[in-house]
Amino acid sequence: MDTLPKITPLRPSRYALDFNALPQHVALIMDGNGRWAKERNLPRIEGHRRGSDNVDPIVTFCREIGIRHLTLYAFSMENWARPKDETLALMELLKDYLVCKRGKFIKNEIRFQTIGDLDRLPHFVVEEIEETKRLTKDLNRMVLTLALSYSARDEIIRAVNRLLKDKDQHRFQDSYISVHDFGRYLDTQSLPDPDLLIRTGRERRISNFLLWQSAYTELYFTDILWPDFNETCLIDALRDYQSRERRFGRISEQIGEE
Ligand code: IPE
Ligand code: IPE
Ligand code: MG
Repeated sequence: MDTLPKITPLRPSRYALDFNALPQHVALIMDGNGRWAKERNLPRIEGHRRGSDNVDPIVTFCREIGIRHLTLYAFSMENWARPKDETLALMELLKDYLVCKRGKFIKNEIRFQTIGDLDRLPHFVVEEIEETKRLTKDLNRMVLTLALSYSARDEIIRAVNRLLKDKDQHRFQDSYISVHDFGRYLDTQSLPDPDLLIRTGRERRISNFLLWQSAYTELYFTDILWPDFNETCLIDALRDYQSRERRFGRISEQIGEE
C-alpha cells in the first residue's frame, strides 16, 4: 500500500465535518442515470451524459476536502449485457471524460488508475486509459480509481488464477496463503479497503462491487439519483459516516484503547 502526503483541507469549518476523521477511502456506486432520464422523458443516454458531467465536481470536491482515495463504479462486467448502443455511448463518454479531464488530474495531482478487466473494453478507450495512467502515475495528492468492466467475483477468480500460475512457476512457494497476501493478488492491491461505500439511486445492494474489500466498510444508501448527487449529498454521507462507531468485532469500551 502506498503512502500519500498529508494534506490540509482547503475549506475547513464550513461543513461541520471532522476533517481529522474523514474516510481514507470512499467507494461510490454511481447508479440511477437511466431513471433520472426516464423521469424527464429523455433517452437513457442523456442520463448517462448528465451522470458523466457529475463525476468531475465530485472528484474535485473530494480532492479539495482531503479524501485520499476515491473509487468509482463506472461500468460493471454485467453492464455488457445492456443494449449495444448504450454500452457504446458509455464508452464514448468515458473516453471524452479522460481526454477532457486529464489536464485537471495533473494540475490537481490526482493519480488515475483502474480496476476490472480492461480486455473487454474497446481499443479507443483503452488507449486513453493507458495514456491517462501514464501521465498521472507519479501524482500523489489523491488516487482516483475507476472500476471498469469490473466484477468482484471475476476479480477474485482472476486473483486465484494468478496465484495458481505463480505457484506453477515457483514464484510462490508456500502451501498456505494469508488474507494479507491474497489481497496483493487483487486489482486493488495498492489500495486500502474502503471505509465508506456510498450507493446512489435507490437500490440497496452491492451489485458485485468490492466484495472482498468491503468486509468492514460502512454502507450508505441514498435515494438521490447519480446525476443529482452533489457536494451537499456527499457531506451528508460523510457526516453519517462520522456518526458511526466502527468496532471491527470489538465492544465500544475497547474503541480508542490503543
Ligand atoms: C448507472 O446508471 C450507470 C451504469 C450502470 C453504467 P444506470 O444506467 O444503472 O441507471 P438506472 O439504474 O437504470 O436508473
Ligand atoms: C451498478 O449499477 C453498476 C454501476 C453503477 C456501474 P447497475 O444498475 O448495473 O446495478 P443493478 O443491475 O441494478 O444491480
Ligand atoms: Mg442501475
